[in-house]
Amino acid sequence: MSTHQQRHPQTLTAFARDTLQGLSGIPKKLSSKYFYDEQGDKLFQQIMRMPEYYLTDCELEIFENRKEAILQAIGRRHFQLLELGAGDGMKTKVLLRHFLERGVNFQYQPIDISRNVLLELEESLRSELPDLQVKSLQGDYFKVLHELRGNKAQPKVVLFLGANIGNYTLEEALAFLRSIATELNPGDLLLIGFDLKKDPETILSAYNDPAGITAAFNLNLLHRMNRELGANFDLQGFKHWETYNPLTGEAKSYIVSLKGQYVFIRALNRSFYFDAWEAIDVELSRKYSIPELEHLAEQAGFAVRQHFFDKNNYFVDSLWMVK
Ligand SMILES: C[S@@+](CC[C@H](N)C(=O)[O-])C[C@H]1O[C@@H](n2cnc3c(N)ncnc32)[C@H](O)[C@@H]1O
Repeated sequence: MSTHQQRHPQTLTAFARDTLQGLSGIPKKLSSKYFYDEQGDKLFQQIMRMPEYYLTDCELEIFENRKEAILQAIGRRHFQLLELGAGDGMKTKVLLRHFLERGVNFQYQPIDISRNVLLELEESLRSELPDLQVKSLQGDYFKVLHELRGNKAQPKVVLFLGANIGNYTLEEALAFLRSIATELNPGDLLLIGFDLKKDPETILSAYNDPAGITAAFNLNLLHRMNRELGANFDLQGFKHWETYNPLTGEAKSYIVSLKGQYVFIRALNRSFYFDAWEAIDVELSRKYSIPELEHLAEQAGFAVRQHFFDKNNYFVDSLWMVK
C-alpha cells in the first residue's frame, strides 16, 4: 500500500529495486541472495558449524575422502577453476591444496556477490595457500558468467558447491544450468553439489535449529533493510517459519508477520502493510533424488561423469561435462 510518492526505480540500488518488487507482489517475496551482508556472512558461518546443518560436514567429508578421485575424474592438469558463490571457501580449500600438491597448473577464480566475503577469502588464501594463483570476481553469477563468455580458449572447471542450486526452482535451475553450459565449451566440466532427499526430520532440523541461528540469519534480512534502505522493521513483530515437503523436496523459509503493521522504507519513500500472519517467502532449499538430478543434467546439456557421495548418502557432488 502506498502512502507516499514513490522514487523512480532507475535511481534505486538493486537491493532497493528488488525489495520494492518483492514487497509489492502477492505473496510478498525477497531474494535469499540478500541474506549475505557482513552480518549475514557471519551468521552463515555459524550455521555451517551447527550440528544440525549436516550439509557442510557431508561435502567436507566428500572432498577430504575423494579429492584424488575428483582430480582423476577431471582428468586434466591445466585449467581455469571458477567457483560460483564461493563464500568463505572453507571446503574448496581442501581441493585447492590437493590440486597444488599434485602439481596441477590452474588459476582459481572465486565469484561472489558479497564483496566482504571475497576480501576475507583472498586474505585467507594468501596466508594459507601462498602459491595459489587467485583472481576473484565480485558480482551476480549470471552477470559474471556472461562476462566470461569471451574467454573460451582455456579449459574450464566450474564449481557450484554447497547445494546453492537448491535455492532455485526446478525451472530456474534448468535455465541457470543451460546458461552455464552455453557460456562454456564442449568438454568443460561442472562439479555441482546437491542435497539429497532423506528423512524429512533431518532436513527440517537443519533449517530450524533450537538455538535460533537460522532464525537470526533469516531475520537479518529485515535488519539489513533497516540498515541499508532506512526501513523501520520492528524485529519483535516477525518470526521465522520453516517447512519441508517430502514430495517436492522443497524446504522453504518464511518470515511471518505476527500482527497487522505498516513498515516504512525510506529508500523507496513508501510504506508497506503486513497483515497479521502474512508470510514473506524468503528462501527455497530444494532437495533432489539421483534420477531427478541426472534428468536435470541431461536436459541442461551435460553428460554426468561421476557422483561422489558422503558415507550416509545425504549429499552428492556430481561431475558433469558439457556435451
Ligand atoms: C550458501 S553460501 C555457500 C558458500 C559456499 N559455496 C559453500 O558451499 O560453503 C552462498 C554464497 O553464494 C553467494 N551468492 C548467493 N547468491 C548469489 C548470486 N546470485 N550471485 C553471486 N553470488 C551469490 C553468497 O554471497 C554466499 O557467499
